[in-house]
Parts: sequence; structure tokens; C-alpha cells
Amino acid sequence: MRNRAAVGVRDNDRVSVDPLPVALDVDTGIDDACALLLAALHPALDLRAVTCVGGNAPLADVVRNTLTVVETAASVTDVYAAVAAGADRPLLETPVDARHVHGDDGMGDLGLPGPVGEPAAYHAVELLRKTTVTCAAEGRPLTLVPLAPMTNVALFARTHPEAFARLGRVVFMGGGAQVSNATAAAEFNVFHDPEAAAIVLDACATLGVPVTMYGLDVFYAPTVTRTAGRALVASGTAVGRLAGGLIEFACRRFGAEEATIGDAGAVASLVVPDAVRTERLPVRIELSGTWTRGRTIVDTRGDGVDLTHDPHGLAPALIDVCLGIDGAAVAALWLSTIAGEWS
Ligand code: BDR
Ligand code: CA
Repeated sequence: MRNRAAVGVRDNDRVSVDPLPVALDVDTGIDDACALLLAALHPALDLRAVTCVGGNAPLADVVRNTLTVVETAASVTDVYAAVAAGADRPLLETPVDARHVHGDDGMGDLGLPGPVGEPAAYHAVELLRKTTVTCAAEGRPLTLVPLAPMTNVALFARTHPEAFARLGRVVFMGGGAQVSNATAAAEFNVFHDPEAAAIVLDACATLGVPVTMYGLDVFYAPTVTRTAGRALVASGTAVGRLAGGLIEFACRRFGAEEATIGDAGAVASLVVPDAVRTERLPVRIELSGTWTRGRTIVDTRGDGVDLTHDPHGLAPALIDVCLGIDGAAVAALWLSTIAGEWS
């Protein structure tokens, strides 16, 4: 078993032994699983907590899938992350799963044995509170990475604003400036719980937590080929079989020769920030609209526009919106991490 503190991180010939503390909020989910593996295995990241929310699949499936992925990662490295179950439905909306994308079990129907462990005995909101406070007290503020509908994160913000304010940063997968998927206007995670997304952006603005939106404008670019997926499976390791199986399932499901690693790109952006191009822009969540509910309204009009004359007032949140990505670099990072080539 590799000890990440002892191994250290090779970064342009600089070896760091201070990995970034992160927590992932997930609805595992094929690409959430890809993200969890990267967060658990890459030595630049210290995966401290994983919270589960209903989204791609019902909550019970999400918890099982998440525990399975974390236990698989733990077979090759030290993973200290607790896993906790959170909200099983959006704040107001009716849950709508995405099993047509992620499989009947929510994670590629790979026929894996169930996990050995159980989730924490307490709620996801409590795990987020405890982890945020602990990391802040250690002087290493937590980076929270929501990769799912933001119900848990909104509940955390409203229940424990003093703890939420101690987050180092929020990097969420959701929304899109120009691209949508769940509807013609909205991305799935924001569409699933628009009120939660609005609450989180409001809390970040009010409490001074920097926030990055890793949305659909960049989400699809990092891809892994079916051939690479097959090679991972053939490697015979538990991590390779899981990761490669997910890629192969996604290729089969969409009749494609390559699959996006989706949510994993948001995690990768923490390790290789230069692979992503961002612009700081005002963003609102559309909470009404006949056909646009759940859209992230990204104001790209630029400096020439006098926002004080905006009839709807100033946007509450200025967000680093990801608008460009080196997809090949991100995919290469993921593949090499899964293959254990960083050690
Ligand atoms: C998002 O929706 C889910 O299906 C994926 O896991 C990702 O978080 C993309 O819209
Ligand atoms: Ca997800």
C-alpha cells in the first residue's frame, strides 16, 4: 500500500508533501466514480470526505456505488475519507434519475460485489461541517467539489453558515454558459435542484467563498478511448477493472469509441489548473422561466456593459467560469493516475 504522505507529489521537479484537502459531493454515477478514483489516488489530493446525494440514481444506489469505489481505491492507497448519506430528493423538485445514462445500478451495471463497509452513522451535512472545521483548524482550508445536484451543499450552507464560510473554495460541476443537456436550457445537476444551486451561489457570494463553475462548456472534452478502457481492464488490478469497465460501458451505451470522464475533469482541474481557462463572470440560476428553469445565466457581455443599468440588478455571484480546457492533458492525467504511473 502506498502512503501518500511518504510518496509526495512530483510537480515540475518540486516534491510537495502537502496535498490539498478535498471533499466530494457525489451522485455516483459513472463519471462520479471516475472523479472519486482520481481524488483518492492522486497524491496531490487528500480526499477527506465523500457525501452522497440522490441524482443520477436513488440515494441508496449512490451510497452503495460510492462505497464500492472508495473501497476499491483503498485497496491500493491510503484513503481516509468517510462516506456519508445525505438528501434523497431535491429541495422542491421531484427526483428524476439518469439511469438511461449510468445504467440500472447507476454505475455501469458491472456486477461488482457490494461494499464491505457502511456509510457514517450521521448525515452528510454533519460530515461536511466537521470536515470543513477540521481542515480550517489545521490551517489547510477544505476545497469542496460538488459533482451532483447541490442539495447537500445548500443544506450545509443554510444550517452551518459559520462553517461554510471556512471553506477554502467550491469547485462545482454544473451548468454551462453555452451548453445544456437535461433540457434545451439546463444542465442536469442544476436542473435537478435549481433552488439548491441558487442557495449555494448565494452563500458563496455572501460568505466570501471563491467558487469555480466546471460546466458543460468543458465537461465533454476530456475523453478516454474504448481501447484504453479495455487495456485498463486487462491490467487486472481492481482499480483498472473498475475504471476500464466504466469507460467500456459508457462507450457501449452511446455507441462511441471514446467516453468522457465528465466529473473527473473538475477534480483534475485542482491538480492541473493551467489545463483550464476561466473567466470571472456574473452567474445567476434561472428559478422560473417556462422552458429555462435550472439554466445558469452566465453574463458574457463583458466590461463594456454597465451592469448598474441591468434592469434585474447586479448578479449576486461572480464566478470563475471554465470556458476552455486542454481535454487531452486532463484525460492523460486521469489515465496515468488510474494506472498508478505517478508512483
Ligand atoms: C452531470 O450530470 C450527471 O449525470 C453527471 O454525473 C454529471 O455530474 C452532467 O450534467
Ligand atoms: Ca455527477
